[in-house]
Amino acid sequence: MRNQKLGLVFLLFVAFAIPAWAQTAVDGEGHPWWQHAVFYEIYPRSFADSNHDGIGDLPGITSKLDYLSWLGVDAIWIAPMFPSPHVDWGYDISDYYSVDPDYGTLRDMDELLAQSKPRNIRVLLDFVMTYTSDQNKWFQESKSSRANPKRDWYIWRDARDPQQPPNNWTSLFGGSAWKYDSTTSQWFYHYFYPPQPNLNWRNPEVEKNMFDVTRWWYKRGVAGFRLDAVDVMFVDSQFRDNPVVGTERNAFGDPVEREINDKNQPELHGVLQRLRKVADEHNAVLIGETWTSDIEQLKKYYGEHNDEVNMPMDFMFATINKLSPADFRKQIEWVDNSGGWPVYVVSNHDIRRVYDRYGDGKHDDQIAKLMASLYLTLRGTAVMYYGEEIGMENNDPKRPEDVKDSMGKLGWPKEKGRDGERTPMQWNTQANAGFSPTTPWLPVDDRYKNYNVETEKSDPNSILNYYRQLLSMRHTNQALLEGKYIALNEDDPSVLSYARSYKGQSVLVVLNMSGVTRKVNLNLESKGVHAKGAKTLLSSFTTPGRVDPSEISVEPFGAWIGETE
Ligand code: GLC
Ligand code: CA
Repeated sequence: MRNQKLGLVFLLFVAFAIPAWAQTAVDGEGHPWWQHAVFYEIYPRSFADSNHDGIGDLPGITSKLDYLSWLGVDAIWIAPMFPSPHVDWGYDISDYYSVDPDYGTLRDMDELLAQSKPRNIRVLLDFVMTYTSDQNKWFQESKSSRANPKRDWYIWRDARDPQQPPNNWTSLFGGSAWKYDSTTSQWFYHYFYPPQPNLNWRNPEVEKNMFDVTRWWYKRGVAGFRLDAVDVMFVDSQFRDNPVVGTERNAFGDPVEREINDKNQPELHGVLQRLRKVADEHNAVLIGETWTSDIEQLKKYYGEHNDEVNMPMDFMFATINKLSPADFRKQIEWVDNSGGWPVYVVSNHDIRRVYDRYGDGKHDDQIAKLMASLYLTLRGTAVMYYGEEIGMENNDPKRPEDVKDSMGKLGWPKEKGRDGERTPMQWNTQANAGFSPTTPWLPVDDRYKNYNVETEKSDPNSILNYYRQLLSMRHTNQALLEGKYIALNEDDPSVLSYARSYKGQSVLVVLNMSGVTRKVNLNLESKGVHAKGAKTLLSSFTTPGRVDPSEISVEPFGAWIGETE
């Protein structure tokens, strides 16, 4: 009796003594909120323009929160909206504690956070932690003299030979990754564009100041960060050359290198563990821009004890560029068994849109629904990219003078850059798709009259309504929420099928990745899935309400999702 009372007192004490933000909320099955959430990436310059200057902004995003909540989005990740000279459209930050005037003010950000809350939409920002803008006052100080206290905040080296960069590392955007600075007669390192100097994360003051940035935003109400370019946060401490592979040149005319010394250095994991601790103290979540070439690398980002990035995005899945059931099966199997919570994404501001990568020009709408049916029914968290839900496609620049992305400017014509996947969101049939009455910063895709939110909302068979139904199912169907992934018919070369099973109930997913109608026997018993029959939950073609799982007919590029009975 006494013990019980003491226990109760202790429980009450714990509940009240820990501030609300530090109590890691988990649901009945032990999931923190983000494991069952749908995330949605917003490219702020292209989402909605509230003050009619042709540039999307924060009040524009706020004005669309009702749309996002109607769609079923739980969290938005906003690509950088900090003050920036926009050499790389915000990925060159000159001040981490403010908002770029193009996008509004800090007060607009507070308003966006305040308006998101009652709609249960969490807001995440982009943490560009590897490098800053050269206009950032930290870099300005660093470059002012060799004796400046911030000199070592960036990576400065002497020439190897007179007028030669310190080593052979190349920039992702072409040319040497070193730039000479005449003020102090040394070279600074930039993995990306020269006005994006890399920070020196071996300096503890850099770590402290950067971690403080995240604390400041958490206190303002931000629910987490997407960590940018983590793989290139550290370089080899001895600055050894990268080995050159063969004699071929890349799109920028540079030799092809095996990036063993400028990427994936082990020290980055220590930083991620400490950054995660700060996030945990604020009940925040970290998404990783984690480009990896194999599953072992991806696993490392979760951390040995799941103590690094909560959500490392699986870009190996995102870059399977053909409708290949075998390739998808293999990748799903890997990440599903990795020990970490899978994070699926099919496109973003750096990757060509799904519609272009998989479309065959004839069945594109079907294929858009097919891909949605795939990554939104897997066990894991999904990160959508704005416009994907209405079937937006790439609208690439046609002339070099129109290119806005530095990558396209430097790589034209072989590399046209990423403008094509960053064009304005299509809201309605009005001028500029309702994005702005003024000419937008990037041209709107001509197809907007048919592919826009308003038109698609009123068409029950639209891609948009398909997404909305999928998202709603994902939030309510127990087997989709909790079910384990069971691959079915693993030898089928054209149809990808699987079950998601939970407590005797299964959701079945059948995705025809070929251009001909297929008849499928799911062979459920062989995988221990018991069913007398199946009921259709959602399908991208006309299907009867009840089907026989040993004989399902699926149209070309059709998706069928059902439930066992
Ligand atoms: C990240 C961003 C990309 C940007 C690059 C360099 O990879 O996603 O858009 O260009 O960093 O700044
Ligand atoms: Ca604007």
